[in-house]
Amino acid sequence: MMPEQVRAESDGLKVTWGNAQTSTFPWFWVRDHGEDVASLDADTQQRKIDTFSIDGDVRASSALLDKSSGRIRIDWLDRETTEITSSRLAQAAAMELDCATLSNPEEKSYWMAGSLPDPVPTISYEKIMDSDDGALEWLELIEKFGFAVVLDMVATEKATEELAKRIAPAQRTIFGTYWPLSAEIKDHNDSAYTTQFLAPHTDSTYYYNAAGLQMFNCIQFDGKGGESVVVDGFALARKMQREHPQFYDILTKVMVPAQYIEPGVHLMAERPVFRLDRKGELAQISFNNYDRAPFLLEADEMKAFYEAYAQFNRLSMDQDNWCKIPLRPGMALIFSNWRCLHGRMGYVGKRYFYGCYHNHADYESRLRTLRAS
Ligand SMILES: [Fe+2]
Repeated sequence: MMPEQVRAESDGLKVTWGNAQTSTFPWFWVRDHGEDVASLDADTQQRKIDTFSIDGDVRASSALLDKSSGRIRIDWLDRETTEITSSRLAQAAAMELDCATLSNPEEKSYWMAGSLPDPVPTISYEKIMDSDDGALEWLELIEKFGFAVVLDMVATEKATEELAKRIAPAQRTIFGTYWPLSAEIKDHNDSAYTTQFLAPHTDSTYYYNAAGLQMFNCIQFDGKGGESVVVDGFALARKMQREHPQFYDILTKVMVPAQYIEPGVHLMAERPVFRLDRKGELAQISFNNYDRAPFLLEADEMKAFYEAYAQFNRLSMDQDNWCKIPLRPGMALIFSNWRCLHGRMGYVGKRYFYGCYHNHADYESRLRTLRAS
């Protein structure tokens, strides 16, 4: 949105927007966010101005808007001149989508019982490999629905790695960079490496930089059952916010620790079940009762937490809220481990998956750059 008018006032830069709303930006902030060549590197957007040498009472004498470029020239009382753009101000005033936000939360497609994605979002392997438009379409599906199924996938480890590299280098964890997943593998004592039913959960609750995306390619399946289960954690959290706001509130506040132990490893991290961003929007779900570590709250708070936690568990265990995907060779599943819970039906027979994680920041970076190109 473009300003109609800008004015230098005593307490800051006053902007009147096209919709007649006004915003005032404190002078110190305006100086710290200069976009002229002396204040900011235009290519990397790295700050050049030394924030710590700006006078706390810094003030401008005039502000001049160039409507054709959207740039605002600021003349300061200390005789310096800087510039700032209208779009920087519009983002900061939430008149435009902040560049740190991937998509408007209202534009995502949330799904649960009664609104399951039908058909499930799919895209072909070839399309993703062939062009950046294909890669972008893939990431937009993940951004909108929280997951996508890749069809006509080549059932090999090599193809899994090639597919993953269309996003970014995979994220290395104690499980390695790329990992085989099968009940025959005994490298890790984790519940994932069994044939039992796995209740919906998120992975890496015990990492501060929990996996952002998780991907499995079905290399071999010869048996019965074993469908992958995906649950839209954001949809369930939003339902809780509408119907049980007090439960939602508790789950956004209580820090829940998690841990992973095997010989030579003891990982621990903690965050709330619903982590919010600075605007109060859902940023990340962390829910893994298998990996929760001991913690004790004051009695009333502990009771309230368990009630809220159980309510979220009921929603995530309700099969009507599940998207069940029978993965077979030729199919790969990718989902946001920050938004979706995943589980697996028990199975008999032989099932061999090959997969990896991606760091959430790497996924966001790829999506931003593909959108811009
Ligand atoms: Fe898992």
